[in-house]
Amino acid sequence: MHANQEKYQEAFIAYLNKYTVFKEPKNLYEPIKYILSLGGKRLRPVLTLMTCEIFGEDHRSALNAALSVEVFHNFSLIHDDIMDDAPLRRGQQTVHEKWDLNTGILSGDAMLIMAYQMFESYEPSIFQSLAKLFSKTAIEVCEGQQYDIDFETRSDVSIPEYLKMIEYKTAVLVGAAMKMGAIVAKASKQDQEIIYEFGKNLGIAFQLQDDYLDAFGDQEKFGKQVGGDIIENKKTYLFLKALEFSNPTQKEKLVEHYASQSRTSNSKIEDVKKIFIESGSADATKKIISEYTLKAFSILDQLDINTDKKSLLKQFGDQLMTRSV
Ligand code: IPE
Ligand code: IPE
Ligand code: MG
Ligand code: MG
Ligand code: MG
Repeated sequence: MHANQEKYQEAFIAYLNKYTVFKEPKNLYEPIKYILSLGGKRLRPVLTLMTCEIFGEDHRSALNAALSVEVFHNFSLIHDDIMDDAPLRRGQQTVHEKWDLNTGILSGDAMLIMAYQMFESYEPSIFQSLAKLFSKTAIEVCEGQQYDIDFETRSDVSIPEYLKMIEYKTAVLVGAAMKMGAIVAKASKQDQEIIYEFGKNLGIAFQLQDDYLDAFGDQEKFGKQVGGDIIENKKTYLFLKALEFSNPTQKEKLVEHYASQSRTSNSKIEDVKKIFIESGSADATKKIISEYTLKAFSILDQLDINTDKKSLLKQFGDQLMTRSV
């Protein structure tokens, strides 16, 4: 990790540790502490702090906004793991597995509210801009998550539909994390929009890479059940491109596997991954990840900041594209 990113990550983690309060009832607060202390890349809060400083304000001013983004993200993970029936998160048991479904629902709800609360420290005009952006983003994440679930049982999902789904469930929050840093730094409206678009495109590349790693990652490093998307019949880019590229025999197999709701078929994951590779879909996914990353970089050209700052953001994008975590 670049020294500069490390600085933001350390500042954020110190702040997070100070915030994590422990109150009664413990079955509400313990899961919150648990998920927040499991680590993770802390990508979104680092982007908030970095963006704030890129637009000329001390990163410490953005700590509450960064915390809000990370708490919201972790809330969405608790509920997402329930919806995806996921056993593992960051190499540990998911909240609903460690506790139960009701605990996951309510601790998640509390975190969503806490995320809003964190804006209270800002002066009225900044508070209003942050809250407005946050509400819009949170609703879009819900829309994206509903599309994701709806697509599991649909067999006619198109690539544009998939791209819209990942823009909503994932990319808008990455864009918003950066825009919040810009809002706190009182950047111009125009610069706020440019940095949002940069983050959004990086976020699309990020979710494509997440889908890729879900099939081809190393479970130890990735920290999630490898093949989880295949088990759940997720209509990822990998799947949609495999359908497009595969020969009739491969296609029949793929369609048959994704029509099954059973979680027991051991051969499903291996069969499907083989088709992802042999059809050329795995390579096509790598290609589109790089295209969205480059699109994000080209948006940066519109921004009137010095080249050092731009290269900091580009470094970040390059790292995301080649990550295995
Ligand atoms: C996981 O996000 C959810 C997605 C949007 C893919 P991250 O990969 O940022 O998860 P952590 O916070 O690093 O664990
Ligand atoms: C998650 O997408 C998006 C949100 C949490 C809103 P995924 O379902 O792919 O995320 P992971 O792979 O479980 O982290
Ligand atoms: Mg999931
Ligand atoms: Mg999901
Ligand atoms: Mg995933």
